[in-house]
Amino acid sequence: DAVERGEYRHYMQKEIFEQPRAVADTLEARIGPHGVLPNIFGIDSDTLLQGTRGLHIIACGTSYHAGLVAKYWIEEYARLPVSVEVASEYRYRAAVVPANTLFVAISQSGETADTLAALRESRRRGYLGTLVICNSPESSLVREADLKLMTRAGPEIGVASTKAFTTQLAGLALLALELARRNGLDPQRYATLCADLQHLPRAIENALKLEPAIVELAGEFIHRQHALFLGRGVQYPVALEGALKLKEISYIHAEAYPAGELKHGPLALVDENMPVIAVAPNGPLLDKLKSNLQEVRARGGRLIVFADGAAGMDDMAGHGAMLRVESGGSFIAPAVFTVPLQLLAYHVAVLRGTDVDQPRNLAKSVTVE
Ligand code: G6P
Repeated sequence: DAVERGEYRHYMQKEIFEQPRAVADTLEARIGPHGVLPNIFGIDSDTLLQGTRGLHIIACGTSYHAGLVAKYWIEEYARLPVSVEVASEYRYRAAVVPANTLFVAISQSGETADTLAALRESRRRGYLGTLVICNSPESSLVREADLKLMTRAGPEIGVASTKAFTTQLAGLALLALELARRNGLDPQRYATLCADLQHLPRAIENALKLEPAIVELAGEFIHRQHALFLGRGVQYPVALEGALKLKEISYIHAEAYPAGELKHGPLALVDENMPVIAVAPNGPLLDKLKSNLQEVRARGGRLIVFADGAAGMDDMAGHGAMLRVESGGSFIAPAVFTVPLQLLAYHVAVLRGTDVDQPRNLAKSVTVE
């Protein structure tokens, strides 16, 4: 055990630091100087992807959050409608399936009971075909799907998912680009996005350098009972994932909200005892987010802002903390900004003395309903 963990105190920390390699492996031989390589989703992928007019993405837990990010990407770049749903709801609901919809399941283990049942149920619902994005080549999901893309995270031991998530994002980014190219994205834009994606391993490596600053920040959370995570647009799912990490391993109650919803409820909870963590890279919604954060400050909330140095952000955190993350461009920013949130959850949990790799009541793979 200690040998496998090497210099790291927990598997989770090791797996967080393995992300540059895991993402690079997942992109390897799948994207090159001219873009996404042919047939990376399987030899029969051409007809299915060419005919796809919409997608239903189904997953659980962290994999569901990866699906939510993909919705923003695919709708923006490929202009195809995407719906994302947790498997336990989807499988028992009379979902409407428009013609030529592709069913997509996302799973680290490939054995999650609800996700597998959803895939089987999808066979009766008239989809164009099924695609699975998975980290376990021998799994049931991979055996049963028409198309597949394996993430190459390697074994993930920590119950709280880290490198599986960022490699899922890498796989879903490839899918978004492939669909975008087929659906008329401007070639110049396509080339830029491909270059951004290839830069992702390095961008994650840079984000990992924030660890010492995050260790310092973590001390503030030791006696907290609640935390609120905010993001807008494609960063909203990142906020959801940050909140999930914190609650899973530190047992602090954490919620995520799209910042534009603050006034519709969560603002009532904000006072000097409520840390508010904002994911705030540059983008079209940054000004809107800034005014949301001003509302938090005005109510004495303690702000922790992760930003990329966009103009006018320097004093956004007020008496709180501002951490600078190099986003590597807005396309890959969700994967990059996930990393400091993983580190924050990890170091808070370590300080609180929880069983980081084996949090109470949770299992790595939920194979029963
Ligand atoms: C469990 C794990 C999570 C994981 C979820 C879905 O809850 O603790 O880390 O995200 O299952 O698992 P899957 O293997 O389908 O991605």
